[in-house]
Amino acid sequence: MLEQYKNAIEKSNIISKTDTEGIITFVNDEFCKISGYTKEQLIGFNHNIVRHPDVEQEKFEDLWRTIKSKKVYKNTVKNRAKDGSTFYVNTTVIPILDHKEEIVEFIAIRYDVTKEVFYKEELLKKEKQLQDLNETLELRVHRKTKELEELNETLEKRIKEEVNKNEQKQKVMFLQSRQASLGQMIANIAHQWRQPLTELNLTLFSMKKAAQNSDEAKLIEFYDESKNILKNMSETIEDFTNFFNPQKEKHLFFVNESIEEALSLLDKMIVENMISVKVKLEKIEVLGIQNELTQVIINLIKNAKDAFITKAILIREISITLTKEDGFAHIEIQDNAGGIQKENIENIFEPYFTTKHQSSGTGLGLFMSKMICQKGLDGDLDVSSKKGVTTFSIKIPLVKSKI
Ligand SMILES: Nc1ncnc2c1ncn2[C@@H]1O[C@H](COP(=O)(O)OP(=O)(O)O)[C@@H](O)[C@H]1O
Ligand SMILES: [Mg+2]
Repeated sequence: MLEQYKNAIEKSNIISKTDTEGIITFVNDEFCKISGYTKEQLIGFNHNIVRHPDVEQEKFEDLWRTIKSKKVYKNTVKNRAKDGSTFYVNTTVIPILDHKEEIVEFIAIRYDVTKEVFYKEELLKKEKQLQDLNETLELRVHRKTKELEELNETLEKRIKEEVNKNEQKQKVMFLQSRQASLGQMIANIAHQWRQPLTELNLTLFSMKKAAQNSDEAKLIEFYDESKNILKNMSETIEDFTNFFNPQKEKHLFFVNESIEEALSLLDKMIVENMISVKVKLEKIEVLGIQNELTQVIINLIKNAKDAFITKAILIREISITLTKEDGFAHIEIQDNAGGIQKENIENIFEPYFTTKHQSSGTGLGLFMSKMICQKGLDGDLDVSSKKGVTTFSIKIPLVKSKI
């Protein structure tokens, strides 16, 4: 039975025996397997052949002290195999005594715990990392927060700068476009005056003749006519002055009046360019700056006129409609001036985009018009173009109480 016990232990454990000096006298197959040495390479050699250089001297001294004093030694020991790899064994060293209680040999029974030790080490390492992480976390969060705060600050500053720049730019563009249309308007006034000036000239000539003939009735008649012509001329100027008086405050106004004013300011230009304008307007009130909408309508009509000329269109038609639609005042200005090319239509609202010669186009008209519709009227300006027909569409929200 003892033999059977011995066998059972030998099969399941790593067993070695040494003499009292630590010289190996027996090893089992398991020992050879784990250490990588053959029996021949082990028996007759000191047990420290599997000793790992990492293990402190004290541990061995402790082992020897324990077993020499006839006690059982138990510990987990780090060993080195023949190929240099490390293995851990849970070790029990038992001193064997004879009948005189003298040590005759030592038996060591071990089992492999390399994996367990390895996992434990990994666990410890991870625990340590976690601890380090925890300790530095607060610091790192603090640092990151500070970085973010700084970033935020500079970002805010940069955004402010950009917004400022943009506002500045828009002001300049607004001025430029105003100046451009002012120039055009002055040209218009001069134009509108040409005819009455000629008439006045003729009437004065007739007055002179009536005076020579002492025809008092005729004299008075021509005098009244002159006065009438002068009155008309003065009205023209007044119209334009009113138009150019910058209105800043939003107020309720009639969209149809704004369109009519634009048409009356462009009256001569329309006739001269043989444009037929069809107008169909509902009476609709909105909130905004009336002159600005008039400016938009003028821009659109003038663009159509320019297109008629460049495309040499003979039958020139513009139709303007104003209707109420889903809570909006909807203005549609349509012309048959040849349409806008696909590659241009995406850009026409961009500032400074023009297909015209430098002297006749600023590229600001549509940009400003869209700005006015969006910012000044809370609405929008859009375009579509097909088969030689361009349609600009303005939508302005109706005043709530007027819907
Ligand atoms: N009714 C239209 N028909 C054809 N092209 C147009 C029309 N309206 C605008 N465009 C195009 O859009 C461009 C930009 O117009 P705008 O912003 O008013 O600047 P500008 O009139 O100074 O060129 C024009 O140069 C023209 O090419
Ligand atoms: Mg224009």
